[in-house]
Amino acid sequence: MKTTLSVIKADIGGYVGHSSSHPEILKLADAELNKEKKKGTIEDYHVTACGDDLQLIMTHKLGVGSKKIHTLSWNIFLKGTKKAEELKLYGAGQDLLSDAFSGNLKGMGPGYAEMEFEERKSEPVLIFMADKTEPGAWNYPLFKIFADPFNTIGLVIDPNMHGGFRFEVHDVMKSKKVFFNCPEEMYDLLVLIGAPGRYVIKHVFRRSDGEVAASTSTTRLSLIAGKYVGKDDPVLAIRAQHGMPAVGEVMEPWSYPHMVAGWMRGSHHGPLMAVPVRHANPTRFDGPPRVTCLGFQIANCKLGKPRDMFDDPSYDKARRTANNAADYLRRMGPFEPHRLDLEQMEYTTLPTVQKKLKEKWEDLS
Ligand code: F6R
Ligand code: MG
Ligand code: MG
Repeated sequence: MKTTLSVIKADIGGYVGHSSSHPEILKLADAELNKEKKKGTIEDYHVTACGDDLQLIMTHKLGVGSKKIHTLSWNIFLKGTKKAEELKLYGAGQDLLSDAFSGNLKGMGPGYAEMEFEERKSEPVLIFMADKTEPGAWNYPLFKIFADPFNTIGLVIDPNMHGGFRFEVHDVMKSKKVFFNCPEEMYDLLVLIGAPGRYVIKHVFRRSDGEVAASTSTTRLSLIAGKYVGKDDPVLAIRAQHGMPAVGEVMEPWSYPHMVAGWMRGSHHGPLMAVPVRHANPTRFDGPPRVTCLGFQIANCKLGKPRDMFDDPSYDKARRTANNAADYLRRMGPFEPHRLDLEQMEYTTLPTVQKKLKEKWEDLS
């Protein structure tokens, strides 16, 4: 019987402002998932938060896109929203974009990354969660982990990985997908994923046997809602070891805080800072963007206890670099490239300002 891992998340209210999550909301989600575990709908769960995003991590046997799992998550987000409203948390219910839920979270606002697999003899899984950024933020580390031999030596010396990995890339503007086999189609892949606001890696598969290796959330809230409604703080699940990248190879790219979109009002670039869960409370200029990672050793469909993977002094230097980069970028104030380019700002105040200026423009000469 296959194991399914579902990581489902939503911002249903921030505490304080958009900086963190209220303990009462985490408590509520924990109690609800505990009931589902007792009922037997799910096998195991872990509740956590990254900034103002509530994360439901679940294992079950119902497959990906299960109506039961999506519905129970939606209902927890609804209950959590009620609580958030009571506590007057900031932006209560912000990511729940529709009242017409029909059993699948697609297009409803919450993000989800899921994968189904036959458990190996040992099944280490790493779950990454980010705040104040967007799904394309995973493109850079996923490329490093699954296609760059300078990051992942296993691509060179592990016979099970030497055949390379296959990347599924989504065009989130046009709702289309395309596959690339690496290493031979690496340059084509980079043409697209180097533009992470539009092209997002959805899955990575091992080429030798088609096994799923990574899965991401690709929700774009603004594209669903037609206006800026907060960033689509994404999640990512990766299987590690024994023919997949080693845990250390998955963890290596985060030693560099690459620049991502999503800081302050979803309208600025900033360094993605890898932090332990207790430090995932972005406050400075609503940032800088954060990423956390919980490691699980899945056994017989049970998650077991998580390890907080960035709670490690070997990321201290990356965090210092991120703070230096943050200082450097902040000096730019409202100027690009700290501020996003006009195209990416289209759902903010820009159209309003342009409308206002329409009458003021004069022809040259
Ligand atoms: C939220 C975010 C924040 C807000 C900002 C303004 O995801 O990135 O930077 O955009 O705090 O929030 P409002 O418009 O709700 O006052
Ligand atoms: Mg928020
Ligand atoms: Mg958030």
